Amino acid sequence: MNDLIGFFDSGVGGISVLHTARRLLPNEHFLFYGDNKNAPYGPRPLEEIRRLSAAGIAKLLERDVKAVVIACNTATSAYAEIIRAQRPELPIVGMEPALKPAHFARHGGQVIVLATDATLRLSKFERLMAQYGSDVICVVGEGLVELVESGRSRSPEARAQVEKLLKPYRDSQIDAIVLGCTHFPFLREPVARLFPRAQIFDGLDGTAQRLKSLLEERGLRSGGAEGSVEYQSSGGDKSIRLMRALMEELDS
Ligand code: DGL
Repeated sequence: MNDLIGFFDSGVGGISVLHTARRLLPNEHFLFYGDNKNAPYGPRPLEEIRRLSAAGIAKLLERDVKAVVIACNTATSAYAEIIRAQRPELPIVGMEPALKPAHFARHGGQVIVLATDATLRLSKFERLMAQYGSDVICVVGEGLVELVESGRSRSPEARAQVEKLLKPYRDSQIDAIVLGCTHFPFLREPVARLFPRAQIFDGLDGTAQRLKSLLEERGLRSGGAEGSVEYQSSGGDKSIRLMRALMEELDS
């Protein structure tokens, strides 16, 4: 085992999670692998998402990482239980839409969960809905992952697509919006503009905190020297350039 923490996403979305984790754990060394060539995962059948997630996470395991963060709600829903059963000794942090805090932030109104098709249709979310699903509107973020993956998260097309998906609910009392896909924090601004009174939940802090406590519990924290990030992608240099650009965007 070495000192690396592996991050996996179907593409660049996990950069939003990595950015939060880096702030919290500045001395850690991170390896980020995005399967950009195969993104989006959301519209794919379960078995395909499992196969692709297994292959992507295997890239991290080849490097003997000390922990894995599945920085993707979709891959977590499809594959986290399987990899946890295969590697019980390895700290694995997954993600799920932050519906629980959003549920408690309501004051009489509704919650919108914006996520991928797969996240909303798989059983992990069904279980979450059974507990916190009253007054919830589920919206599939159709086309949004593609916009972020092509570097257009700040474009007029992205704004127009967010409006197309969410405008129908603008006249309802929406108290909270859950960004249930790690690509969507890059679209936070057009979402917030449509619902200025709603609280937005992205689950990024909770995931980073969970990673920190798992590392601490197991005595795996790195100390001393400044941390680092290494980027890898099935999509080649263009995808790696986008990862770096999004990281810089969040830093600024
Ligand atoms: N970033 C991912 C998530 O959190 C998946 C996007 C996709 O590939 O569809 O769900």
